[in-house]
Amino acid sequence: GLLRHVVVAVDGTSGSGKSSTSRGVASRLGLRYLDTGAMYRAVAWWMLSRGVDVHDPAAVAARAGEPVIVSGTDPLAPTITVDGVDVSVEIRSDAVNAAVSPVAAVPEVRTRMVQLQRAVIGEGGIVVEGRDIGSTVAPDAQVKLFVTADPAARAQRRAAEEGGSDVAATRESLLNRDRIDSGRAVSPLTMAEGAVHLDTTPYTLDEVIDRVVGLVEAVEARA
Ligand code: DC
Repeated sequence: GLLRHVVVAVDGTSGSGKSSTSRGVASRLGLRYLDTGAMYRAVAWWMLSRGVDVHDPAAVAARAGEPVIVSGTDPLAPTITVDGVDVSVEIRSDAVNAAVSPVAAVPEVRTRMVQLQRAVIGEGGIVVEGRDIGSTVAPDAQVKLFVTADPAARAQRRAAEEGGSDVAATRESLLNRDRIDSGRAVSPLTMAEGAVHLDTTPYTLDEVIDRVVGLVEAVEARA
């Protein structure tokens, strides 16, 4: 049926539970999974590793065509490589957290990543998470979600994931990324037309996954 070709677009703020939700939904439904944030993180990591000034958009744009990014799509074992090097761990560092939003705001970086993302999406059968999936990358997605949560809940969750980082610092870092992501000129973070807003604050991960699986199954039943 439709599931083989469905595209589920999961957009929302930093640390809202998008990743855990997207991976859970994909594995429950036997779909592939694409973490587009990891791709921007990998580009940011590459820029840092080459000594590019990530706060200079022209410098980033000049080298945007160089890094070769390859994303795995297994929801149980997401991987990402740059020029053949697995950077799954490195892209979660504080340095990358601070560099990724300015890098992701550079139009030349976005154009290239969107092209790659559409190639991976292909015929569908995939849950795709990011900021501009429902609005720009896959506007025809059959299911679109906009996931948010209270900053306090997000910071607590993310700090725990990072193995006990400082909650206040994590909160500032998340809110700073949201500010840049929402304010940029190209494909800012906004709720796409037709998206369902999910505030995950009061829910457990399993409850959120159940809700989304229900939405996907409802679309399939209607098809
Ligand atoms: O989802 P994340 O926190 O890993 O995303 C990292 C950064 O990349 C964040 O600043 C937003 C940006 N991003 C984006 O601009 N577009 C996407 N589709 C995904 C992420």
